[in-house]
Amino acid sequence: RLSSLLSCLHIWLILCLFLRTCVSSPPKPNFLLILADDLGIGDVGCYGNDTIRTPHIDGLAKEGVRLTQHIAAAAVCTPSRSAFLTGRYPIRSGWSSYKRRILFWNGCSGGLPPNETTFARVLHQQGYSTALVGKWHLGVNCKSHRDHCHHPLNHGFEYFYGMPFTILNECQGTDDPELAKSLQDTYWLYTQIIFLAVFTLLFGKLTCLFSVKWKIIVCVTIFGLLYFLSWFSSYGFTKYWNCIVMRNHEITEQPMNLEKTTSNMLKEAVSFIERNKHRPFLLFFSFLHVHTPLITTKEFLGRSRHGLYGDNVEEMDWMVGNLSPSFLLPLFRYGKITIRSPQSHLFSRQNSPSSQPVLTAEMFHPSSGHSQNRSMSLLY
Ligand SMILES: *[C@@H]1O[C@H](CO)[C@@H](O)[C@H](O)[C@H]1NC(C)=O
Ligand SMILES: *[C@@H]1O[C@H](CO)[C@@H](O)[C@H](O)[C@H]1NC(C)=O
Ligand SMILES: *[C@@H]1O[C@H](CO)[C@@H](O)[C@H](O)[C@H]1NC(C)=O
Repeated sequence: RLSSLLSCLHIWLILCLFLRTCVSSPPKPNFLLILADDLGIGDVGCYGNDTIRTPHIDGLAKEGVRLTQHIAAAAVCTPSRSAFLTGRYPIRSGWSSYKRRILFWNGCSGGLPPNETTFARVLHQQGYSTALVGKWHLGVNCKSHRDHCHHPLNHGFEYFYGMPFTILNECQGTDDPELAKSLQDTYWLYTQIIFLAVFTLLFGKLTCLFSVKWKIIVCVTIFGLLYFLSWFSSYGFTKYWNCIVMRNHEITEQPMNLEKTTSNMLKEAVSFIERNKHRPFLLFFSFLHVHTPLITTKEFLGRSRHGLYGDNVEEMDWMVGNLSPSFLLPLFRYGKITIRSPQSHLFSRQNSPSSQPVLTAEMFHPSSGHSQNRSMSLLY
């Protein structure tokens, strides 16, 4: 309870900062929120790592504020994100079950209740252009496969590009499945037992070892087939059901093309900023990094001293560099991006908090089986 309370307070602090700046300074600041997935607090330079290179994140820390006490509201995605977006205990939005607090399927009903107030909705009501690029994992539908009641566009975001679900091993299909592996093994075992029974009956019948009616053999076979179909239609095609990319309400990739995801997400984010340079905006960039299966582009493979995980963290840092001041400021200087009002410099460093990119991370390491609820936050 204490941890949830602390995290709530923390999120409220961030929101208060936002609101204060919105209300008191007439030129509205722009917001870039960057959320990393499953990143360990000791895996970036500014939090003490000396072997993984994260110069861009360290840069944000150096010129901004680095928070050292921030506890996430939950150690798994769905409830933690729910708290992050709403500033409320996850349990208040329905994430109360001990074991199944996390959404397992795009197609399941359930998600962030439509009546919750997210920071995106608050800003949207203030005239902001709001976008989410990346991972959502807070549900899609309530009753039918098209009602999209939990969709980001129903939660204050005007634009969405990314995964309504989360990336997982099944998207790549080379490692062990992440979704209910032991359950799948059990289903597979029962299926084999049923078909073994069918073959035994057939063998007995054909060799006249024992007498059994054809009707029974047919019934058991049909039962076996139905049983197999009932679970395999879900778990056998996880890649198609869960690993999809959407733009607003449309599915653009099913299954998604993992090689292009990183560059597409960056492109979408930068072009959203370009499109909205004349009005205040909120961009919530929600990384698929560094969740397994640690999809990393060729340029970063083998670069770090910590294997694929380290490569993926370094790639994420590079992406932060593409999104953050070092990238946008030169554009600003060269006049490619002109800001609506001269006072509200995008990511301005010297004057008042005209803009606050926030980097924060969920802490859960499935690979090491190590779950942490400490979280990091940088205010810039
Ligand atoms: C972290 O979360 C676990 C449950 O997920 C809880 O038992 C533990 O007390 C929490 N730790 C802190 C420091 O809040
Ligand atoms: C840096 O991160 C790697 C990967 O998580 C870890 O093995 C290493 O111990 C970390 N180094 C420090 C000094 O924390
Ligand atoms: C949303 O509706 C549910 C069900 O009516 C209710 O329990 C919950 O408190 C509501 N949430 C908010 C933020 O009003």
